[in-house]
Amino acid sequence: MLEPVKVSKIEIKWNNLASFAMPCPYLIKNRLKEPLFSYKWLKLWAKRVWTFPSLLSLSFRRAYYARGGVRFGNLADMNGAILQGAWSQLSIGSGSFVGRAEIQLLAPVTIGNNVIVNDGVRIITGTHSLESPFFDSINKPITIHDSAWICTAAILLPGVTIGKASVVAAGAVVTRDVPPGQVVAGNPARFVKMRGCDSLAFSPNLLRACYEAWLGNVSTKGRS
Ligand SMILES: CC(C)(COP(=O)(O)OP(=O)(O)OC[C@H]1O[C@@H](n2cnc3c(N)ncnc32)[C@H](O)[C@@H]1OP(=O)(O)O)[C@@H](O)C(=O)NCCC(=O)NCCS
Repeated sequence: MLEPVKVSKIEIKWNNLASFAMPCPYLIKNRLKEPLFSYKWLKLWAKRVWTFPSLLSLSFRRAYYARGGVRFGNLADMNGAILQGAWSQLSIGSGSFVGRAEIQLLAPVTIGNNVIVNDGVRIITGTHSLESPFFDSINKPITIHDSAWICTAAILLPGVTIGKASVVAAGAVVTRDVPPGQVVAGNPARFVKMRGCDSLAFSPNLLRACYEAWLGNVSTKGRS
């Protein structure tokens, strides 16, 4: 039995309302504080002003998807993904980032916290029975657990579960469940190695400059 990777708990709370609103209340509440009018204070606020347009566009983007039914955890983001099917079947956990992926939503797609889904990934929930003379549809949910990384152009086929902190290499075609902490690659995706790091302490979406300007580098807090 392979040992799962430990994932540090990063304090971002699930909050549906935040999908529609600016993440401002969270950022303001948890902001870095420096002595008023000090050099550091000025620098911090300059960064906040400079990165405000990207914070704004990120919020509009979330609001657009959330209006269609996508459920976002706090400070999660999806940038340019193409969704097909019922958007309400997609949920994306706190701190996760989904790039320009194609996601078919004929069954639920559940993405955990602090997950990365890179550009070009295809998440496919529907197929057809080869035994059926009527080409019956078969729809199966897909689950991606916390801190997994789905690399560029990987394909996840209906019904698969990606384990906690697993890595699906670029271009891999996943036909079977991936156990926690494993790196899989190729077509069909096969075990390559374990992730090689027995604890993870970062939140991908919080690496963005517009969040760092408010929270500092939350993801790497505790790095000595
Ligand atoms: C998964 C990944 C992170 C592994 O990187 P790594 O730890 O450096 O892996 P290695 O180079 O040691 O590869 C280990 C083995 O897996 C194979 N492998 C790695 N990636 C592969 C891939 N995408 N497809 C097929 N095989 C792959 C290697 O050939 C090697 O096989 P070998 O042991 O027979 O030589 C990397 O391959 C990858 O896919 N990165 C994603 C890049 C990306 O999407 N970037 C965009 C966001 S920044």
